[in-house]
Amino acid sequence: MTLIAPSILSADFMRLGEEIKAAEQSGADWLHLDIMDGHFVPNITFGPDVVRGIRNVTSLILDVHLMIQRPQDFIDEFIDAGADYVTIHSEASYHLHRLIQTVKQRGKKVGVSLNPSTPINTLEYIINDLDMVLIMSVNPGFGGQEFIPSMIPKIAFLREMIDSRGLNTLIEVDGGINLDNIRTVVNAGADVIVMGSAFFRSKDYSQFIKTIRERLSGSIIV
Ligand code: DX5
Ligand code: ZN
Repeated sequence: MTLIAPSILSADFMRLGEEIKAAEQSGADWLHLDIMDGHFVPNITFGPDVVRGIRNVTSLILDVHLMIQRPQDFIDEFIDAGADYVTIHSEASYHLHRLIQTVKQRGKKVGVSLNPSTPINTLEYIINDLDMVLIMSVNPGFGGQEFIPSMIPKIAFLREMIDSRGLNTLIEVDGGINLDNIRTVVNAGADVIVMGSAFFRSKDYSQFIKTIRERLSGSIIV
């Protein structure tokens, strides 16, 4: 089954607790937490204290997407705060292999994220160690951007790489996904779909999740 991970970047931060409860009750599978530092990406969001607060109000899987420079300085803090998955950008570390081991040694799931311009073959010598690969389908930094179509063959190429090696690595796709293109993204090979603006701008989160499930089950022609 395809997992749906609403990104709280597009939630109403003044009502964050309620928003998270509503996302949980809607039937969403994970919660995607976008951590931005104003250096790796041109935007700032929140840090470990907010993640800890979120951990206290939900039992959903917390999927922490680190869009920060020097991720090595913060991995332990985000794990201590309650992250279940920690995803590091390949572009943000000189020593990606070492950081992957750090997350695994803490007993958490580890992901590596690729910006749109970063080729899949950068995963060649680490993919066996990964629980997840996150394909960015927009340039990271903001919600509400448009999906980059050339990411579809990139997802398909990664699917082939994972399947041909007999791995269980999840493919997560993040950025610009909505009801119109979700099926194309899943057909290309995605396992986990991040949705920020499409989810939080919908009027009824439960209905939105239901509509997604219908689209993906093929009962509606798109
Ligand atoms: C972008 C973030 C995304 C963002 C997605 O840098 O990584 O998770 O919240 O938002 P939408 O779905 O609106 O593109
Ligand atoms: Zn994200």
